[in-house]
Amino acid sequence: MQAGLRGLYQIAICASETLSPTSWNSQSMHQATLDLLARRRSVKADTLVEPGPDASQLERILTIAARVPDHKKLVPWRFVVFAGDARAAFGEKIAAACQAEEKEPPSQFRLDTERKRFSRAPLVVAVISRIVAKPGAPEWEQILSAGAACFNLCVAANASGFGTTWLTEWIAYSPAIRTALGLADTERVAGFVYIGTRSATPEDRERPHLADIVTHWPSA
Ligand SMILES: Cc1cc2nc3c(=O)[nH]c(=O)nc-3n(C[C@H](O)[C@H](O)[C@H](O)COP(=O)(O)O)c2cc1C
Repeated sequence: MQAGLRGLYQIAICASETLSPTSWNSQSMHQATLDLLARRRSVKADTLVEPGPDASQLERILTIAARVPDHKKLVPWRFVVFAGDARAAFGEKIAAACQAEEKEPPSQFRLDTERKRFSRAPLVVAVISRIVAKPGAPEWEQILSAGAACFNLCVAANASGFGTTWLTEWIAYSPAIRTALGLADTERVAGFVYIGTRSATPEDRERPHLADIVTHWPSA
């Protein structure tokens, strides 16, 4: 199913790049996309195993992640990729941040867990929100665009046959991790997206009922 879905999706994407407005509207062209969006869900980071995306798959995934609505074309986000040995090397930074920032001295078990945090999956992409001062492009909208980049990254990876999860955890808010990532004052972590091959199928979670979240204006 994964391979079939991937093939259909790739055909749809390739075809759509040269589609006329009429064929772009063809529902059958996009059924695979609708199916993927209707069924997608996150998986636990530590159930993501090798292989992760190869270089050309990653390039495609990041290209799609960067194709999101962006008021005033400011590109208010950037990506930092952690693969291979870089995950364990960054794990040392995470353990050091934990040691420096926890009120009580962390246990050896906790430090070992922190060392392995980025090694839970074959690939981690940090999506960094970066605010650009620009009249007419409020900060809020730039942050929304960064969130869209995170989600497009997940969906592109899912459509390429990989599982994903979008996490922040304590490290997104750690001053020492900000320094390790080289974040400017105008930058924040929007998410760490873990990517790899699924080794488990998670149960779906409860989804909101439309009746609870949709209203029509004017209300009756
Ligand atoms: C910005 C953001 C940050 C998140 N951070 C965490 C986190 O730190 N820990 C966690 O367990 N889930 C976190 N989540 C939720 C996970 O992404 C979760 O797996 C997801 O909401 C499951 O829903 P899904 O199956 O529809 O993807 C975060 C979600 C978002 C949007």
